[in-house]
Amino acid sequence: MLPITPRADSSGILCQGGLDEHPVATILLLQFEGASYRTSRLALDLQDGIDTMSTASITPPVDIRRALACFRDQPPFVRLFVLARHLLAPLRRVAAAVPPHGRILDLGCGHGLFVNLLALSSPERDVLGVDPSAEKIRVASRSSRALQNVRYLRGRVDDVPGPEQDRGFDAITILDVLYLLPDEEKAAVLRRCRELLAPDGVLVLKTNDTRPRWKYGVVRLEEELMVRALGLTLGGQLHFRGIPEYTAMLRVAGFSSRVYKIDAGRPAPHRLYICRPLP
Ligand SMILES: C[S@@+](CC[C@H](N)C(=O)[O-])C[C@H]1O[C@@H](n2cnc3c(N)ncnc32)[C@H](O)[C@@H]1O
Repeated sequence: MLPITPRADSSGILCQGGLDEHPVATILLLQFEGASYRTSRLALDLQDGIDTMSTASITPPVDIRRALACFRDQPPFVRLFVLARHLLAPLRRVAAAVPPHGRILDLGCGHGLFVNLLALSSPERDVLGVDPSAEKIRVASRSSRALQNVRYLRGRVDDVPGPEQDRGFDAITILDVLYLLPDEEKAAVLRRCRELLAPDGVLVLKTNDTRPRWKYGVVRLEEELMVRALGLTLGGQLHFRGIPEYTAMLRVAGFSSRVYKIDAGRPAPHRLYICRPLP
């Protein structure tokens, strides 16, 4: 095993370090789910409000297994899809940034794997999954039918009722959705999230970066296939953006943000933004 040590890069962004320079090793590691877990054991220690990497695992792997089991009676294609999603994206790392209780909105929830993970990890979370794809909402609703703390809505962020009657969502999560939207739409979504979020809420944004170039190449190829060639993901053009662009967009929409590199051991340049509403 290559050593993996937390470090800050030259821009001060926290990262897991090590494997970016070893693409072949990264791909080999990915062959082994166990290895992938080992590399992803560095978890965000947000419980104490400390924005640093910790070696403690917050969500045990059993949660992912339970979330995947929700799809047991779905067609093989769907089961393969959610399994691949788990293998390719550090979902447990992202889930660790979500508060353990309160109202959570997962925007662009897809088949609902992350919704199930959040809801199963803590029954004190009430999770609303929203997606414009009728087919995905159908699959997601079926997968979560045994969970009392999950609801779904087919639509986009503008279809989510506003916080007029209550204090808003405690957390909003957006995982790999914004790259499907042009910049003006990204900005509008982020502005609406700011309105939907409670004053002390958190926006948890997961994107893919445009660096390093080889990882960007991998994710670009994957998404050209999913969105443009196979049409498995709703969207048209691809609008990937890097850390400077997202940080600026978030600020304009009324958020402060901290960004983490969470891609060690994985071939895609996963980034996690933890965003708080500016006063
Ligand atoms: C790559 S999938 C990610 C699904 C899920 N968030 C995950 O991480 O597994 C992108 C999702 O965004 C949804 N989507 C596309 N345009 C959207 C929009 N304007 N608002 C919300 N979701 C959208 C698609 O239907 C698709 O389910």
